[in-house]
Amino acid sequence: MNSVISEFEKGFFFMKVLVIGKGGREHALVWKLAQSPRVTQLFAAPGNPGMEPLAKILPYRVDTSISQGSLLQEEIQRLGKWAVKENIDLTVVGPDDALAGGIVDHFKDLGLQIFGPTKAAARLESSKVFAKNLMHRIGVPTASYRSFSEENKAVAYLRSLEAPFVIKASGLAAGKGAVICEDIKTAENTLHQMLSGTAFGEAGSEVVIEEFMHGEEVSLFAICDGKDFVTLPPDQDHKAIFEGDRGPNTGGMGAYAPAPAMSKSVQYEVENQIVRPVIDEMRKLNCPFNGVLYCGLMLTDSGPKVVEFNVRFGDPECQVLLPLLQNDLLELLETCCLGNLKSFNLNVSNEASVCVVMASGGYPGDFEKGLPISGISDVDQEDNTVVFHAGTQRKDEKIVTAGGRVLGITSTDSDLPTAVKNAYLSAKKISFKNCYYRKDIAHRAL
Ligand code: AMP
Ligand code: GLY
Repeated sequence: MNSVISEFEKGFFFMKVLVIGKGGREHALVWKLAQSPRVTQLFAAPGNPGMEPLAKILPYRVDTSISQGSLLQEEIQRLGKWAVKENIDLTVVGPDDALAGGIVDHFKDLGLQIFGPTKAAARLESSKVFAKNLMHRIGVPTASYRSFSEENKAVAYLRSLEAPFVIKASGLAAGKGAVICEDIKTAENTLHQMLSGTAFGEAGSEVVIEEFMHGEEVSLFAICDGKDFVTLPPDQDHKAIFEGDRGPNTGGMGAYAPAPAMSKSVQYEVENQIVRPVIDEMRKLNCPFNGVLYCGLMLTDSGPKVVEFNVRFGDPECQVLLPLLQNDLLELLETCCLGNLKSFNLNVSNEASVCVVMASGGYPGDFEKGLPISGISDVDQEDNTVVFHAGTQRKDEKIVTAGGRVLGITSTDSDLPTAVKNAYLSAKKISFKNCYYRKDIAHRAL
């Protein structure tokens, strides 16, 4: 410890940090924060067994497992009380539902420092209509669209378009709210299911119908302080369950960074024509954007266009990006909370990083839970590879499966082919019944 630091400064220098969430993304956040010499104690709510060596696990379920309406609000209040009592210095929020539920507003009202957007700023993800209208107003490139809450008007518009049809529930729908339909009959059915509330309840009471964009998908994550931002290396997720990007969409079966599909000049274009104007507009709307602006992009023949915004780290994208970050994550997040990002020097390694998600066979449909997992400790001992837990649970001192996406195996190396090779060698050492993972993660770059 540096003896020059006064008792007064120590109060701010050393921090007790709380991470909200329980997936691979949050395990990666805990893992990175634990490397900060300034973090004295880490807590995770509700956390997962992979975080146990690094953080104290708390029994607050501020996440998708229970978080609907008033139940989520009750959990946010309970956790807020706990954070005040424990003098938590910084809270970092992983999942979108807690953000859309107003956890940031509540913690700020309690005088707590928290990293993430307010409920009003989180509308960039929680309302596709809000996001599309904002982009349209300020000229951010995105698919042309119209929004509807009446079925007959929506059907009439659909019939004026050509396949494939893109229909999206406006509200949060656990990543399943965008449906691409190849024929008009399926499109009309999808529309009916959304607007009648059968598909996504209230989240589908308003829909966006938009132009189908052709191109390669890439994501860019901007860490924002309300006025300024820094960007992490562009990356690619693998949403489809099967190799070759076939089959139904999942939360993400793997990711890698940097993605060469996005050149430096395109990245510059995205920063100046998408990120910058959106942040400026949010400030003008009196809801400055603090937190992670996840730009899901399509690289079309006429330039990069926004597919969607999210207001948080992606999962598994976070698992490949944080190992590349060379700054102290606490410093970066604290600087954002204080609005001082302009003078921050982001330092990112020029290595490549890849994450292979090991899932329960059957996911994204039905799957068995409670299956014992072996081999994790063998991989934990390897250099340059980390096992991030997602859907795991501790049962009778053993780690068992507890979700669709079970583990994320992340390897970093000086080149992408070696990182990919190592991630797969490590995945082979881990086993559980019906384990499934894609064998072609990063195929577009290899
Ligand atoms: P979203 O939930 O909006 O990110 O959509 C999920 C996935 O659907 C995206 O990752 C794309 O692969 C695809 N998608 C969404 N909107 C479009 C679009 N307008 N054109 C082509 N593909 C799209
Ligand atoms: N991997 C996609 C997401 O986090 O939304």
